[in-house]
Amino acid sequence: MKIGLLGMGTIGSGVYEIAQGLSDVEVKWVLEKRFQADYITDDISVILSDPEIELVVETMGGLHPAYEFASQVLDSGRHFVTANKLLVSAYGPELTALAKQRGVAFLYGAACGGGIAYLANLTIARGVDRITALGGILNGTTNYILDAMQSKNSAYADVLAEAQRLGYAERDPSSDVDGLDTQRKLILACAVGFDVWLKPEDIPTRGIASVLPVDAAWAKAQGLVIRLCARAERSADGAVRAYVEPTLVSKTAPEAAILSNVNYAWYEGERYGLMSYIGQGAGKDPTAANVLRDVRSVDAGHRYMTREVCAAGTPDNAGAMERYYLRVPAGTELPAGWAGRPDHSGAWDVYETNPVSVSEMHERMANIRSAFFAGIRRT
Ligand code: HSE
Repeated sequence: MKIGLLGMGTIGSGVYEIAQGLSDVEVKWVLEKRFQADYITDDISVILSDPEIELVVETMGGLHPAYEFASQVLDSGRHFVTANKLLVSAYGPELTALAKQRGVAFLYGAACGGGIAYLANLTIARGVDRITALGGILNGTTNYILDAMQSKNSAYADVLAEAQRLGYAERDPSSDVDGLDTQRKLILACAVGFDVWLKPEDIPTRGIASVLPVDAAWAKAQGLVIRLCARAERSADGAVRAYVEPTLVSKTAPEAAILSNVNYAWYEGERYGLMSYIGQGAGKDPTAANVLRDVRSVDAGHRYMTREVCAAGTPDNAGAMERYYLRVPAGTELPAGWAGRPDHSGAWDVYETNPVSVSEMHERMANIRSAFFAGIRRT
């Protein structure tokens, strides 16, 4: 199969290099402004007017012009494979519809889980089972930061800088540390697992930017470990609950064993029970290899990651309850019923709350950016 490649950054150059060793995939054209070679062009129409190109891979990142290029590729009757979670989380329903209309493939396995074949397996699993819950640790940068803060007592800013140096972080690391990267991946997983396309505002999302050593110390004293977790559940009547937040897990929980920048993605099916996948959620070679797995699966006849009918979904987070660790500036008033008296810790009040509505916790804390909260899961 002859393919075009949009973007020769970290992932794109990985795709190009790995494809050199594959006998059934040839990168004929690369769209790139920064370099020159006989296979490089800065004009997408060169790729789209080449009748030999059957499939285009997008590894540019960002929304624009990635969205315009994706639309043009699909509209031209070519298969489209991308690693761009921002693009798919924002335009997934529209691009899926266009791909179906044109009878071509639209696959994005590397956009959630990096190198882990999570969405690919979820696509197959939901064909034979009803998926009831899914989630995991879907961001390497934040896991790297949390792990180093807890295992080496490293300072937040130092570890973030190191994660950026290692190439784990997004160009704008706030999408990692504020949980938005995880949120986008959860949108994709819910689309594949539950047949609903959630919107960012449907998913209460809190990252780790406010975590302090005092939080790590509280967790440690309780035998708990802080992780940034995505979680989504689908009830028997089809309502979906989905949220992203720091979580305190037992030190014997699978999440606690996920170290450095490693990702952990799981789903639960009525028949499968719990299935989980652990591996590199970011990085050049693992992600590029997953992109090429999608390319080859197009050759094998795979077309879409969602079902034929995939609705726009509205989640029901109002009823989701978690018991929280909560650290707020001293004197902050909390709703009656959330908790008893705080433990004072200098400038902070620290609580272990009663079960609290997830939506309400996220809403109440939205304007208290220095606060840190984490759902407590002792089992
Ligand atoms: N910045 C992301 C991470 C890259 O740290 O996991 C992969 O999506």
